[in-house]
Amino acid sequence: MQKSLPSLYYHSDKIFAQEREKIFCSDWFCAAREEQIPAPGDVIVLNILGESVLVARTKAGDIKAHYNVCRHRGSRILPEPGEDLPVGIKLNGGILGASGIRCPYHLWTYGLDGKLLNAPYTKETEGFCKAELSLYPVAAELWGGFIFLNLTPERAAREGRTLKVSFGEAMERVKRYPLRDLSTARRITYEVAANWKIILENYNECYHCGAVHPELCDVVPSFRQQGGASLEWEQGIPHKEGAVTFTWTGKTNRMPFPGLDENEKMRHKGELIYPNLMLSLACDHVAAFSLWPQSPDHTTVICDFLFHPDEIKRSNFAPGDAVDFWDLVNRQDWEICKRVQQGTRSRVHPFGYYAPMEDLSLDIRRYVLNRLKQPV
Ligand SMILES: [Fe+2]
Repeated sequence: MQKSLPSLYYHSDKIFAQEREKIFCSDWFCAAREEQIPAPGDVIVLNILGESVLVARTKAGDIKAHYNVCRHRGSRILPEPGEDLPVGIKLNGGILGASGIRCPYHLWTYGLDGKLLNAPYTKETEGFCKAELSLYPVAAELWGGFIFLNLTPERAAREGRTLKVSFGEAMERVKRYPLRDLSTARRITYEVAANWKIILENYNECYHCGAVHPELCDVVPSFRQQGGASLEWEQGIPHKEGAVTFTWTGKTNRMPFPGLDENEKMRHKGELIYPNLMLSLACDHVAAFSLWPQSPDHTTVICDFLFHPDEIKRSNFAPGDAVDFWDLVNRQDWEICKRVQQGTRSRVHPFGYYAPMEDLSLDIRRYVLNRLKQPV
């Protein structure tokens, strides 16, 4: 038995602020799927623990990211999704197709690569140098069709922390899955009343599966054996006899992804890519969860269900057998995570324990503590 993180770590605003700075603003994290911005001029605006960031497909077809802040007076340039203007108010600026974006305040215009293109009436201004006034950069790298961002790009570059250096081992483990070629057939967004680390810890252990996920354990009986102590994730987790995937029956009319090995055609794999991407890989679909911490006790979880485009094109494509099954399993998890969030607030519970079969959850303790002790 090992001590869990102190209960305070799941509830304190101060710890949350440290995690924001030392984890989400320092490490690479998963932000989106490339397919969300397929064409030049496509832009998404994301809020990462309070930092507004825009991710764009440039004229040249690259993906670039920047802080959503004008270099002039600091105005936010683009509204965030769902942010409506008050009735009767109209602002100029916005996205100008592939040519760039314009701040609504003094109409400074930037290319989607971040360069300042035009600032009205500044030509004669002494000391004004466009080249020094690009948007504040955010690093963007691509892997498996996912867009990863780093909000402190200079430091990551200085320390040699590329995406590959950070996640190379996980990438290697799932290299045969054609993640980049897959398309999102369904997206479900969950609002979970739990700290983001509780969700990761829950994902990292199957001790709870027998109690919380009876339907899942019917398809994957080894999840309930010995509290999930002897699961071999490297080789993949076998299903019940005759089953090959996470659906109600364990069967599917979809072809396995091209390129998988014999184990991967029959078994289930999972990866947790810190700090916010959980991947569940079946032979015919992938459930990709990205976590968006909103506050110490609230996390938005975006769950994308990825399928091969050849299957999506088929007239009988019906992803509900996987999606609805997952949706039940997910909601079971969120409910139990909420209970942990509630219980760990009690004055009598300064910390909990990880049992031996929850070994992988120890990783989170290490990951978080290592980072929080680092200077910003
Ligand atoms: Fe679970």
